[in-house]
Amino acid sequence: MKTAIISDIHSNLASLNSVYADIKKQGAERIFCLGDIVGYGPNPCECIDILMKTEVCLLGNHDQGALFDPEGFNSGAERAIFWTRDQLEKPTGNPDAIDRRWEFLGERPRNYQENDLLFVHGSPRNPLNEYVFPEDTYNRRKMEKIFALIKRCSFQGHTHVPGIFTEDFRFFSPDEIDDRYTIGDEKLMVNVGSVGQPRDGDPRSCYVILEDDVINFRRVEYDIDETIERIYAVPELDNFLADRLRDGR
Ligand SMILES: [Fe+2]
Repeated sequence: MKTAIISDIHSNLASLNSVYADIKKQGAERIFCLGDIVGYGPNPCECIDILMKTEVCLLGNHDQGALFDPEGFNSGAERAIFWTRDQLEKPTGNPDAIDRRWEFLGERPRNYQENDLLFVHGSPRNPLNEYVFPEDTYNRRKMEKIFALIKRCSFQGHTHVPGIFTEDFRFFSPDEIDDRYTIGDEKLMVNVGSVGQPRDGDPRSCYVILEDDVINFRRVEYDIDETIERIYAVPELDNFLADRLRDGR
């Protein structure tokens, strides 16, 4: 069975639609979302409505920020969260839809386990907030502690930097492994990248197709200008949040 694993959509509807079209083309039967549906981008309600139908959808730190008081965000991200909350509360929409979206966000779990596979937003140690960056391979203590919590393989997002962490402190970007990696006997941590705000220098959306033990990284082009224009049109969203999409930073 093919499972599409997506993360960090950040209210970027154009990217989500393109990724969904690619998932369909790939023949994936189910979609797991690792959180951060909202934050930064211009279309929170539309993205939530689409992701409500996924098989598994976890809570991300930006989703939590919209639900409760945002803590630990920079000022641009915080302003985006307050604007997102306004959109979710807007009385112009169907009141049922407003309640449904809030309920959906409020019910999101922080992790999901399927056999020996773990799914989180941040890390197995701190599912909501901990970042695991490629340079953390130099932080052996951190990596050992996190790997101790993994049975076989963990899938995560949060950094917006896709790739594979191995238990022997190595990191492989998708380019270095020709976008494919097979889960073997060693434990792995897999960052599936970001649909709506990639930060590895490649502006295309990123996600993963998992089929049996084979991990396949997918890159998908989308109409970046459409999202940029929508962000420019909202005074509460910093122009920087639009400009960075073009460079994938
Ligand atoms: Fe994120």
